[in-house]
Amino acid sequence: MTAAGGSGPSKGAVVRGSWLVNSTADGVTGPVTFRLHDREWDLLPGVFAPTYCVSTGFFTESIPFPVGGSFLEVGCGAGVTAVTAGARGCRSVTATDISEAAVRNTALNAARHGLLDRIELHRGDMFDGLGPEERFDLIFWNSPFIDPGAEDGPGARPVRDERRAQLRRAVFDPGYRAHGRYLSGARARLTATGRLLLGFSDLGDHDSLRRLAADAGYRISVLRTSRDLAPGVDYQLLELLPDDTCAR
Ligand SMILES: C[S@@+](CC[C@H](N)C(=O)[O-])C[C@H]1O[C@@H](n2cnc3c(N)ncnc32)[C@H](O)[C@@H]1O
Repeated sequence: MTAAGGSGPSKGAVVRGSWLVNSTADGVTGPVTFRLHDREWDLLPGVFAPTYCVSTGFFTESIPFPVGGSFLEVGCGAGVTAVTAGARGCRSVTATDISEAAVRNTALNAARHGLLDRIELHRGDMFDGLGPEERFDLIFWNSPFIDPGAEDGPGARPVRDERRAQLRRAVFDPGYRAHGRYLSGARARLTATGRLLLGFSDLGDHDSLRRLAADAGYRISVLRTSRDLAPGVDYQLLELLPDDTCAR
């Protein structure tokens, strides 16, 4: 059992997550550019790379952006989703990330695509940095859905390379503690009809997630999966629906 009460990480998920961290850290050692969805994007070292993982592209294509409404992206990374939200007609876009490099990267891409005046940026843990009255029509996080289990336990070796440490935070969430804060903190940040989405995958621990969601008063509905689009990892765009039958 994990701290969040689930079945824990599969070895395959941890191996795949470690591969992603190491290949990104070794492959992106300076600023580069990449193409996605017919646009050119900047990518800084230490930031989750949409070129090494198709999740960014899949979720960005799948999110029902609230045209004319407000969108919050938690964990914006290079900023592809936040910038696309602005380009697709969201009235206001707010993007946060715990990584300073990610916030800088999103600013670069917002400027590159002429949307810097439409995107508010915060560096912080989850909803920190938002004004007390700020509410959103849609909140989304492409989360670090792999719980590394014992790899990040008390006996784990510290990661001395800061770039690798940032990338680990983009891929792994020990004990799903950050997922817990996302689910428990989101309700106070939604408008009356606001929607809460999560980018997850079959590499994640669904039992733990279901438990955390129920604790926060939500049930999980699958909006779209990548299963039919490509073989390999199944990325899942989940919606957290308020469930008054859940135990609080
Ligand atoms: C899977 S990456 C997704 C990045 C980007 N949204 C994308 O799709 O390319 C997860 C992101 O969440 C950020 N993150 C992890 N823990 C966080 C926290 N507690 N608060 C805010 N952001 C966090 C990471 O720094 C990383 O940028």
